[in-house]
Amino acid sequence: MGLVSAACLAKLGHQVVCVDINEQRIATLMQGECPIHEKELPQLLKEQLESGHLLFTTNLLDAIEHATIQMITVGTPGLPDDQADLSQIFALTTQIAQHADRDMLVVIKSTVPVGTGHDIEKHMNDALLRTDKPHRIDVISNPEFLCEGNAIHDFLHADRIIIGGDLQRITPIIAVYQTLVDRGVPIQCMSRVSAELTKYAANAMLACKISFINQISQIADKIGANMDEVQAGMSSDHRIGSHFLQVGMGYGGSCFPKDVRALAKKAKVLQVDSCLLDAINNVNNLQKKWAIDRLLQHFKNQLQGLTIGIWGLAFKPGTDDIREASSIVVMNALLQYGTQLRVYDPVAMSNARLCLGDNHAITWCDSADDVLFDHVDALVIDTAWDLFKNYSLDRLREELGMAPIMDGCNCFDLSEIRQAGIGYYYSVGRPIEGVVAEL
Ligand code: UGA
Repeated sequence: MGLVSAACLAKLGHQVVCVDINEQRIATLMQGECPIHEKELPQLLKEQLESGHLLFTTNLLDAIEHATIQMITVGTPGLPDDQADLSQIFALTTQIAQHADRDMLVVIKSTVPVGTGHDIEKHMNDALLRTDKPHRIDVISNPEFLCEGNAIHDFLHADRIIIGGDLQRITPIIAVYQTLVDRGVPIQCMSRVSAELTKYAANAMLACKISFINQISQIADKIGANMDEVQAGMSSDHRIGSHFLQVGMGYGGSCFPKDVRALAKKAKVLQVDSCLLDAINNVNNLQKKWAIDRLLQHFKNQLQGLTIGIWGLAFKPGTDDIREASSIVVMNALLQYGTQLRVYDPVAMSNARLCLGDNHAITWCDSADDVLFDHVDALVIDTAWDLFKNYSLDRLREELGMAPIMDGCNCFDLSEIRQAGIGYYYSVGRPIEGVVAEL
């Protein structure tokens, strides 16, 4: 989010200095290389480096001296007790306060629990007082709504820009977004706590839709309904709409899982019953076992010694991010059951290798074909990459024979599966399909 925001702000004509403590990452960026898989980012990065609007450094003082607006995009990962880990944000703001040599506006883009803006503002101004500095630091909440894989577009064509803070203090940050506002992007100003809560509420609402439709798919599975039809029927009600009602193997990524848990935790701390937020999380955890449950059912609980192919490791297509991906849950469970795995993802292989470590039971394949090249007893599809969706069903039939496909992304139309004569095809919330199923 930091890199995308910086590159986009540079594109809007601002002079942006980016700081990171990771020296290798900064060195890579200075050479114009993009360290993450994100659509259009490598090109934008190069452009803005060449234009001189974007600078990278590991020296925080450079950034503090450069601007009165300091945007914070550090991570706020979940702690074991589900609270957000605010250590990075507090460490950074302590340093900004130490080195501030004028009034400043600190803009928090990181997702932080409601009330954090207040705590940070107090923390920074107390530090200024202790050093007898006559300056003042205002903390503004400016949450981002970028989706990985589409982040540049989401930044430049945002549905809205949310700014939370004291109305008299937010003018400079509104000016930062003026070009987007002139192009019609609405800006919504509100209190800081409302902005902080809006971010969590938006993510929890989207996660809620996914868990809701996934739970409906479990009912569909039991009664032989078809979620393609149910979704079409539901979505044509304009009050419901079609977004975020795609069934699958549960939501992953660095945002929904941790944000829903952190919001539930905050509710509990505030003595608010968090039953709905807990349910969103619980349904999601169950859904991540979808492929394992189907494999156990198909192989009558005998998975030991089987070889399973895995297509897709990223938590969704368009990214190399594997954080909280269903693929990792599936692979860890399958390894526990004593299976051999042949896995492939077009961009997330190195992240998955780092996460799972060297394991002789995993063969890291070079392509989707390569997964099927040696015999596999079943194929699990974990990420809906176009590469998999467009894969030849004739080829799948030839390579797999009667080995089942567990398609956790509903990549194929059931009618196409039928026509291609696939042996066994399991998908989420749709009847089991294939030659054998029809017998
Ligand atoms: C999410 C939000 O969509 C962004 O608005 C927000 O800015 C971001 O979190 C954040 O807080 O930074 P992201 O995590 O990139 O963005 O991914 P999404 O596209 O929202 O997908 C999240 C997960 O939900 C993925 O695993 C995806 O496969 C799953 N999903 C999504 C479904 O299972 N069904 C759907 O219908 C949609």
